[in-house]
Amino acid sequence: MEFELTAEQREIQALTREFAEAEIEPHAAAWDREHRFPRELFTRLGGLGLMGVCVPEEYGGAGADFLSYVLALEELSRADAGVGVTVAVHTSACTLPILAWGTDEQRARFVPPLARGEQLGAFALTEPEAGSDAGSLRTAAAAEGGGWRIDGRKQWITNGSHAGTFLLFARTDPTRDDSRGVSAFVLDAEHVRVTREEEKLGLNSSSTVDLVVEDAFVERDRLLGEENRGFRIAMSTLDGGRIGIAAQALGIAQAAYDAARAYALERRAFGSRIADFQAIQWKLADMATEIDAARLLTYRAAWLKQAGRPHTEEGAKAKLYASEMARRQTAEAIQILGGYGYTKEFPVERYYRDAKITEIYEGTSEIQRLVIARSVLGLRQQERMLAQG
Ligand code: CAA
Repeated sequence: MEFELTAEQREIQALTREFAEAEIEPHAAAWDREHRFPRELFTRLGGLGLMGVCVPEEYGGAGADFLSYVLALEELSRADAGVGVTVAVHTSACTLPILAWGTDEQRARFVPPLARGEQLGAFALTEPEAGSDAGSLRTAAAAEGGGWRIDGRKQWITNGSHAGTFLLFARTDPTRDDSRGVSAFVLDAEHVRVTREEEKLGLNSSSTVDLVVEDAFVERDRLLGEENRGFRIAMSTLDGGRIGIAAQALGIAQAAYDAARAYALERRAFGSRIADFQAIQWKLADMATEIDAARLLTYRAAWLKQAGRPHTEEGAKAKLYASEMARRQTAEAIQILGGYGYTKEFPVERYYRDAKITEIYEGTSEIQRLVIARSVLGLRQQERMLAQG
């Protein structure tokens, strides 16, 4: 077993940390307050290779491995979790599935502008009445003249207002109402219309929208993978995406820990630093331990994915643990700062608000437990159907 990062992984981690500390973290509070999406930042990240860390160089990426990408996400999220999710969805949920499932022509056409950060990517699966039960989606793609005419509504689409490329899932088999009749399509911004920008508890520097697709005709070259087999693309995309969200949660928790530790060493009460009191020491010890545990789960899942090995269960475990840990430990960071922690004077209240969503998107904690339970119990789909009668 090897716990050392490679020279290249350390280099990407250091480059991202340096950039994030200088160019992102100092603005994070203002972007949060003003609900500002820092569009120009992603062009700069693209220039550094950070919008396509694990995309091969021939497609405009940095050509590094998946763990390097996870390290970059962790560092970005430590500075600003909204920036973290923007890059995570752009990469894991749009660029990588096109790379994995696209034809040579689709890869050459859609991936380079994404990997270079010239365009942002989005993932349009969720609908108003299809969230955890993603297979029940209703957006319809009706066959017409060798292509499809797409109509429907999508909800909570990260990057929706700024994306140029959308990986969108629609029902191509109208006779079915389950995951089997779903296909994946690559759409452009002109195929969709944003109807509402969501107001959220946190992640205010990211964009989350409702959108509609109205009578949009697409040719066959927009179909990703096989017709009616798109749900597998969605699921395998989420297998990798969940590792990215685990890295995001890890970055948020690390930021909260750093702030709480620094405060505990400064703040004095009853004649000593509060770090000298066991109550505070134990909180910091628990935080450090749980952050380490989440990091190990996350890096292991990333390593499995890079090795081309199954990682559905391991990615779900990493996301489940890291997200719940981040919610718990950002709350503890507020507790260590006391009244100051509850104010906007310190960043820990933002970390707490930002952490909560990691337990919800890319599959709620309940869905992660379902995925893990099915895996550890060896329940295959047929057995599950039998069990359900
Ligand atoms: N990889 C590949 N294929 C998979 C798979 C996987 N990990 N998991 C399932 N599949 C396949 C199955 O083999 C099956 O294929 P066949 O029909 O060919 O046999 C098909 O997918 C359906 O599988 P299930 O019967 O297991 O599907 P299900 O309806 O029981 O539910 C679920 C599966 C796990 C609950 C799934 O619906 C799910 O993950 N829901 C959560 C949705 C989600 O995470 N949404 C996130 C939205 S995106 C987002 O949040 C981005 C953001 O903004 C940050």
